[in-house]
Amino acid sequence: MTQFLNKLKQDILNKIKDANNLKTIDEIYRAYLGRKGELTKVLRSIKDMPEKERIKTGKLANQVKKEIEEVINAKKSKLQTISSQLPDKEQIDVTIPGLKVPRGHLHPITLVQREVEEIFQSMGFSILDGPEVETAHYHFDALNIPKDHPARDVWDTFWLKDFDLLLRAQTSPMQVRYMEKNNPPLRIIVPGRCFRRDATDSTHDFQFHQFEGLMVGEDISTANFKAIVEEFFKRFFSSSDIQTRLRPSYFPFVEPGFEVDVKRKGNDWLEIMGAGMVHPNVFKAVGYNLKDWQGFAFGAGIERLAMIKYQIDDIRLFFNSDLRFLKQF
Ligand code: DAH
Repeated sequence: MTQFLNKLKQDILNKIKDANNLKTIDEIYRAYLGRKGELTKVLRSIKDMPEKERIKTGKLANQVKKEIEEVINAKKSKLQTISSQLPDKEQIDVTIPGLKVPRGHLHPITLVQREVEEIFQSMGFSILDGPEVETAHYHFDALNIPKDHPARDVWDTFWLKDFDLLLRAQTSPMQVRYMEKNNPPLRIIVPGRCFRRDATDSTHDFQFHQFEGLMVGEDISTANFKAIVEEFFKRFFSSSDIQTRLRPSYFPFVEPGFEVDVKRKGNDWLEIMGAGMVHPNVFKAVGYNLKDWQGFAFGAGIERLAMIKYQIDDIRLFFNSDLRFLKQF
């Protein structure tokens, strides 16, 4: 019996040691010390034993019971302490580094627009905004594009009301709005969003950005224009190896008009903007005296500049909000 009790004690102690929750401890208690527990059975059987055996086993069994109870109680309070520290009573560790809040950044179109603004500002140009909804007067008539003029089709766009209000298809109308209210000499840049009902493909979208430039003074010439755009391209492409050339072209609001091509070192010629000397009819429309003033105007697409600078081959990437694309800037 002594041997049996010692073995039983060892088994129980091992089980208590392995137990890692209060439920298991209760189960162990019930299995050995409960009403039908194994140790309880031994204790009950003692009274029927012969006297010698009864004294010896009784003493040992009671010792074992006492010891087991003590160990169970100790383990119980230990487990209770641990469970009281679990989640809902968890403490805050102020030494753990905080979570970083992801920060956004400027869109590539905004980056290029700001760079354009900065470069021209440093050459004395003011930056202006214009309305995205224009009137036919500023968008066409005052720019020497009368109602029956075929060039009107080129900029035919989203009409909002009775062929009088439209989403602007170019930033050129701001030339007129500005000159109406200001006298030369003047230098302005007007960046902004434009709209055309073009079919969408890799180089066209129904919305895009342009910047318009205008410089008017007593003797502003094409030579001045060439010097200024060349300086602009050198800074924009961060290269001194830049060539520009002007090819004759037609825009109703300039005379003569040209396409401006740019050649960067090791690259082909690229057509980048339209330009020309301000047409006398535009000066007339704003009430300037033709004998006093002359100047140049130009307009360029911001997406196109961004595509060249960052080597992007599809204009639609700018507006489809794909973070894999946007995160690269
Ligand atoms: N507004 C023209 C366009 O959207 C671009 C342009 C060409 C602007 C010649 C000008 C210019 O100021 O002189 O196609």
